[in-house]
Amino acid sequence: MPDRVLGGGVKTRVGIVGAGPAGLLLSHLLHLDGIDSVVIESRSRQEIEATIRAGVLEQGTVDLLKSAGVGERMQREGFVHEGIYLRFGGRTHRIDFPSLTGGRSIMVYAQHEVIKDLVAARLAAGGKILFEVKDAAVYDLDTQAPKIRFHHQGTVQELECDFIAGCDGFHGITRPSIPSRARHEFTRVYPFGWFGILVEAPPSTDELIYAHHERGFALVSTRSPQIQRLYLQCDPDDELRNWPDSRIWDELHARLATGEGWKLAEGRIFQKGIIAMRSFVVEPMRYGRLFLAGDAAHIVPPTGAKGLNLAAADVRVLSKALAAFYSSGDEEALKGYSAKALKRVWRAEHFSWWMTSMLHRFHDESAFHHRLQLSELEYVASSRAKAQTLAENYVGLPLD
Ligand code: FAD
Ligand code: PHB
Repeated sequence: MPDRVLGGGVKTRVGIVGAGPAGLLLSHLLHLDGIDSVVIESRSRQEIEATIRAGVLEQGTVDLLKSAGVGERMQREGFVHEGIYLRFGGRTHRIDFPSLTGGRSIMVYAQHEVIKDLVAARLAAGGKILFEVKDAAVYDLDTQAPKIRFHHQGTVQELECDFIAGCDGFHGITRPSIPSRARHEFTRVYPFGWFGILVEAPPSTDELIYAHHERGFALVSTRSPQIQRLYLQCDPDDELRNWPDSRIWDELHARLATGEGWKLAEGRIFQKGIIAMRSFVVEPMRYGRLFLAGDAAHIVPPTGAKGLNLAAADVRVLSKALAAFYSSGDEEALKGYSAKALKRVWRAEHFSWWMTSMLHRFHDESAFHHRLQLSELEYVASSRAKAQTLAENYVGLPLD
């Protein structure tokens, strides 16, 4: 076992708070480099494996999962998409990824399937994930021996680490543990949310449809030949009980209508949820021996499908920096982690903000603003240069 018990406490090299994509993938990448870690997670394994979230993996994320040996089921069950459709003014325009990006594409494979694959890989390799921990706290962050204290199975436990990775999402405890004078936060909250549903129905489209409509944004995505994922722009403070199935279908049909003979397939709705939309970044993504990764450090609105991919990109950089430290004692890469990660983060922040701004209706917007949105959409649909900007950001800029 990698851990050693010392004076009632447990020691590990990297203590990881949060078993989301960031924490699990980091633990796995460290394991491949021979570095032991312990992951603590407040929810149960069943819960994290059933939470419905992202669906789109960038080419770089796909390649990373494959090279880390956790891509086998994804390759079998995921769907490679070579483009997306933009729909506005009742017409549909395709953005072709390979021809605009030198052959790159994306994979539609649900986040909770990635989670299942990573948990299985960690446990098969003897990795340590403690589920259902309570009251986690991190301290001694600016010393050589930062610690995580938590309740697990009725006892208080302390994990002494060389480093702590804060992978506990936007509402976690690691980011707020950084003194406020040592962090700079940037936030934008959008005046709308997404109403998301899962439906038992065949696919209505071979590629995702992003629709701009006077009544608001709509998105047609997929999960499998039998299950589809649909979203529509809504009031972020709305409640599920205001949305009977008939109203959801009416809105989706209205917002996705075309004069092109396309039809949305209906089916039994078996899951509904409302998602708030925000942009958020904390700088720097490090304090002492605490390193933040994924949603703990940044949030993007889901319109650009970037959140999970950013989490993967962060931990790739972090795992390499930790591997460099353990192989040669060189701290340079660790010192550069935040700046390197933030460069990609801000690109994704801009792209996600741009897609969100172009595709949604803002209730306080003027006719002038709406005309600008339509002009922007026309430009993306007609200019190779603008389409290329969308495509190369959507498939993801190269990881190095
Ligand atoms: P999380 O997935 O939030 O994981 C954090 C983990 O930490 C959780 O399991 C949590 O339980 C645990 N935790 C929290 N606090 C504690 C604590 N105190 N102690 C212990 N554990 C704790 N991204 C994309 O790339 N593509 C998409 O298509 C996409 N679509 C999305 C659609 C929706 C509806 C939503 C909501 C998000 C979408 N995203 C998408 C974003 C993506 O889901 C997130 O960016 C991603 O989950 C971030 O991973 P993470 O590991 O950083 O954080
Ligand atoms: C999804 O399938 O959940 C999904 C797809 C594309 C997005 C956001 C979410 O931009």
